Parts: sequence; structure tokens; C-alpha cells
Amino acid sequence: MSRAVLGIIGGSGVYDLPGLADLREEAVGTPWGDPSDVLRFGRIGETSIVFLPRHGRGHRLSPSDINYRANIDAMKRAGVTDLVSLSACGSFKPDLQPGLFVLVDQFVDRTHRRESSFFGAGCVAHVSMAHPVGPGLVARLAAAAEKESVACRRGGTYVCMEGPQFSSYAESNTYRHLGYDVIGMTAMPEAKLAREAEITYATLAMVTDFDCWHPEHDAVDVADVIKVMHRNTEKARRVVARLAADFPREREDCPAGSHKALDTAIMTAPSA
Ligand code: ADE
Repeated sequence: MSRAVLGIIGGSGVYDLPGLADLREEAVGTPWGDPSDVLRFGRIGETSIVFLPRHGRGHRLSPSDINYRANIDAMKRAGVTDLVSLSACGSFKPDLQPGLFVLVDQFVDRTHRRESSFFGAGCVAHVSMAHPVGPGLVARLAAAAEKESVACRRGGTYVCMEGPQFSSYAESNTYRHLGYDVIGMTAMPEAKLAREAEITYATLAMVTDFDCWHPEHDAVDVADVIKVMHRNTEKARRVVARLAADFPREREDCPAGSHKALDTAIMTAPSA
């Protein structure tokens, strides 16, 4: 059994996590380069927390410029066992309205200019992404949201686009007709890399807009996203604080296999 350490990656609007006890900052380097910012280490109750703002403080990094490998590797080096990713997203469903949180359970990766694996250079591995989020972590997030009276839907498919431009009307309608629930620019390859790093992962997708398909809503713009995100930030922090306060001491086995994802994934024979 290993000690549980909860990692939080903050998305648009969530650049810090107030209320951490024993706060310290550390620049953690990785062979893949530098993560988006210094890591902030602290504690909520008995739970160790590591926080990283995905876009860096001041929102300097565009989704395509984020070094996802460095971010996940830095979290791994910090001992993170369970990672919650906070992400703003657009909605394809009339009932997934701005302000709602969605605990997505599937991803579609439409990104095309990001490094999406730690493997390949002399060591080939194929991890399963059939069930990309940790059901136990999701259940804990759902319970935390409920305790905090934060409206939260469980389940849904998040399509990750490259950006940085928002979708065209045709793209938006295509995704909607394919049955996807929400769209964002950052959960991939984060979720894939977390799985390769054997970190249990969940995304709390925070709906900020209806993208551009909805006949009664204007096409999304940054002002909309920021306006709703300001309202979401405080709710997200409360959910995270509650999750941390109720988090188990020891890492739990993940029904999706994230804690042992590499056991059956590596193709390359060890060299003699
Ligand atoms: N982030 C927030 N809203 C979004 C949208 N409509 N498309 C992509 N990323 C988003």
C-alpha cells in the first residue's frame, strides 16, 4: 500500500488553491522539459496536495504549447497517485448548461500537435484507455460535489480539440450529432499520460458555454468563458477542498487498472 497524494491541475480561471496548510513551492524539472509552473505542495487535513496551474500563472500557455509530459512527470515525481484535472468546456447538450460540472468518463482525442506518450524512443508500450478515468476517484468527486451542493452530472464524453480557435459551426454540429457531451482543449493528452504514469485520473469539466451550435445562444467567446469561470472557480475550490478532506490515507486500487497500467503494456524486451 502506498500513501495517497492528491494532485490538482487547475485550468482556465483556477490558477491557485487557497487554504493549503504548510504551503511550499518548488520548481520541479523533468527530462521532458519544464512543467507549466512551479508545483505548490500543501495539505488539506491529513491529505497531501500538489497543485499545478495548467496554463501557468497569468495564463501564459496556449493549450497546444503546454508541456503535458513535463506536467504529468512532475506530478509523478511529486508522488501524486490520484490526479483531478479541472477544465473549462463547451456543451453540446441543452441540459448541460453553463455553470454545471460534468464528471466525464470518456474522451475523444482530436488533438494533432502534442506529444502524447512517454514511450517510443527504444521502449514501446501500449496502455489501455478503454476506461480512462478512475471510477473510485469519480465517485469521491461526485460525493464531494453533493456535500457542497454543487450541481454535478456524472458521465459524459469530452472531445478534446487542438484549438486555440473555437470550433466552426459545422464542427460543433458534427460533434453534437456524434453524441459527444462537452468540448475542451486540454484533457488530452493529459489523461493518456496520466495512465502511462500509472496515476489515477479524473476530469471535472466545468461548462462555460454552448459552443456555437445552440440557436438561442451566441457563439462562444472568451468573455463568456471568463464570466462563467469566475463563478465556477469558487465552486471548484470547494469541491476540491471537500474531496481532500475526505480522501483516504492509502492509495486505493483503481477498478480501471490505472495503478498497474504498465504491468501488461510494455512490448520491448529488456536489453541484455
Ligand atoms: N473551453 C471552454 N469552452 C470551450 C469550447 N466551446 N470549445 C473548446 N474549448 C472550450
